[in-house]
Amino acid sequence: MARSVFAKCVGVPLVAALLSSGSEIAHAQRGGRGAAGQATGGAPRDTTTGFVIRDKTVITNCGDCHTRDSAGYMQRISYERKTPEGWEMSIRRMASLNKVDLDPAAARTIVRYLADNQGLAPAELRPGRFEVERRMIEYRYTADPRTETTCRACHSMGRVITQRRTRGEWELLVATHRGLYPDADFQAFRRGGPAMTDSGVAVPHPMDVAITHLARAFPLRTPEWAAWSATMRAPHLEGSWLLSGSEPGRGAFFGHVTVARGAADGEFTTQASYRYADGGPVVHRTGKSIVYTGYQWRGRSTDPATRARDSVGLREVMFVEPGWEEMSGRWFTGGYEELGMDVSLKKFGASPVVVAMAPRALHVGSRAQDVTLFGANLPRTIAPSTVDFGPGVTVTSIVRSSPDSVTVRVNVDSAAAIGKRDLYAAGSSLRDAAVIYDKIDRIKLSPVSGLARVGGVVFPKQLQQFDAIAYYNGPDGRADTDDDLEIGRVNATWSLEEYATTYDDDDIKFVGTLSPTGLFTPNLDGPNPARRRSRNNIGDVWVVASYTPPVPKARPIKARALLIVTVPLYVKFQPWQAQP
Ligand code: HEC
Ligand code: HEC
Repeated sequence: MARSVFAKCVGVPLVAALLSSGSEIAHAQRGGRGAAGQATGGAPRDTTTGFVIRDKTVITNCGDCHTRDSAGYMQRISYERKTPEGWEMSIRRMASLNKVDLDPAAARTIVRYLADNQGLAPAELRPGRFEVERRMIEYRYTADPRTETTCRACHSMGRVITQRRTRGEWELLVATHRGLYPDADFQAFRRGGPAMTDSGVAVPHPMDVAITHLARAFPLRTPEWAAWSATMRAPHLEGSWLLSGSEPGRGAFFGHVTVARGAADGEFTTQASYRYADGGPVVHRTGKSIVYTGYQWRGRSTDPATRARDSVGLREVMFVEPGWEEMSGRWFTGGYEELGMDVSLKKFGASPVVVAMAPRALHVGSRAQDVTLFGANLPRTIAPSTVDFGPGVTVTSIVRSSPDSVTVRVNVDSAAAIGKRDLYAAGSSLRDAAVIYDKIDRIKLSPVSGLARVGGVVFPKQLQQFDAIAYYNGPDGRADTDDDLEIGRVNATWSLEEYATTYDDDDIKFVGTLSPTGLFTPNLDGPNPARRRSRNNIGDVWVVASYTPPVPKARPIKARALLIVTVPLYVKFQPWQAQP
């Protein structure tokens, strides 16, 4: 009876087959006699044992279709491990394609149970952190370029490397793709026509190559998961944390986060306050979070001052390091989760600690330069001589001091050694705290090539923030060599220039606008009647930054980045819902 329900809901009878063949594979996986015991491609049969499912919310809500056998194994579900986002995506698909009706509380319980009991160990997630932190990076999967080509056609490889499955489940995943996205075959999975033979040897399709690789590289059972899950527990993160971060378009910020226990184990409430190194008022945020799998912080926080117009706030995705003394990650928002900041938190106790300094770069020969050290428990009165930057940098006075920041005035000798140096102050130390440089030779844009998506009518816009980073070329005077020193973010002047790919192109008039702080906001989606042939507002342009160093007779230094303004992403991951 249930099967006809699948076929009706989805309209693809294949999907019913997917679940039932899942059951056969499940038998095979438990050493049963299932018909699917012989995997495709003559591969050895996968006899991996699945995970017994004990949670009653999962059993009640999922068990009608995913039959649970007397040993506690549930079809399909027992044979996969995923991040909280991965489980959430599955549950959403159950809701949208299979009409599974779940209330939000049950959905949260299920994500929590599955992520905790069938999640990824810290070592397994580390290479795929960018995926959960929603970083737009150019990730290359070098372990198997053929699998990368097959699986990166529509989404990031990050989605793939953050899952673990039995071979049978990797096969079913590919089969599901073929059922749901018939284009997949044509785009990536098959080489046109059936598997060919070449002198009697079967030449596998790209999808078969990928399945074989994934089954080996990302199996259900691993020593990492065995070790982690055996001693995993809800972490105790309550206490005071030093916060340091950097926000594209704004620069560095520093402050504190107080973490308190929430309603249950592994749940927390937070109060953060921080300020940007370049000034402005203190920012306050209050939030809630859940830590999945013992180390995956997922939170949301809002700023009470802006809550009226920003009820969404920032999503927080952080990785809690073993030892519970450090965590880091990204806080973000935006239609594509593209706007945000990198953050790093360090637990602190009663002793003084310095976490960062700003500005970090000091020019040789500069006099009476003020720099601020950020930290906690800093002494009220501090002698200039106890703030030690090493030879050539003299602290002449303390401008002001408070427990969480000390501003000192320094002179830098014209013969001071160029390079990074450590700081010792108030009984604390900071590696590579400062950079002594000679001159700004060039600026480089970050990112060097950007991506934005038109939106605002049907789809959200995807914005792109640019930053100009100054560099000193080092003693060899050449750019992009090992002795180059990064001086830091500078406030540049921004403009757009035509990227002349097409004769008589007019992209810069239509693609969107660039703010004085380097934030590009694309134009609306949909055809634009004002444009020739009513084209969409898409196009390619150069983003140009110009910066004049603050020294006599300096000339402006320029750099540019390519910006591609494209169509909305129709195949987008869904925004996170299992929020705290
Ligand atoms: C109405 C029937 C139905 C219910 C109820 C149901 N599922 Fe499914 N599930 C399916 C079908 C059909 C498939 C195979 C097709 C697919 O993957 O979408 C499937 C596949 C899956 C998969 C494998 C997909 C993959 O490749 O990762 C997971 C995981 C899953 N379901 C989880 C759940 C969870 C968790 C619940 C309970 C919240 C649930 N399902 C409830 C019908 C159901
Ligand atoms: C034709 C486009 C396309 C190609 C090629 C493609 N995918 Fe996907 N994939 C999708 C879409 C669309 C989704 C989103 C499904 C959803 O929202 O539930 C997805 C989701 C996924 C998920 C998460 C869904 C789940 O049930 O856990 C995984 C894992 C995945 N793909 C792996 C792969 C692998 C491995 C390959 C290569 C063998 C691949 N994909 C190739 C389109 C594609």
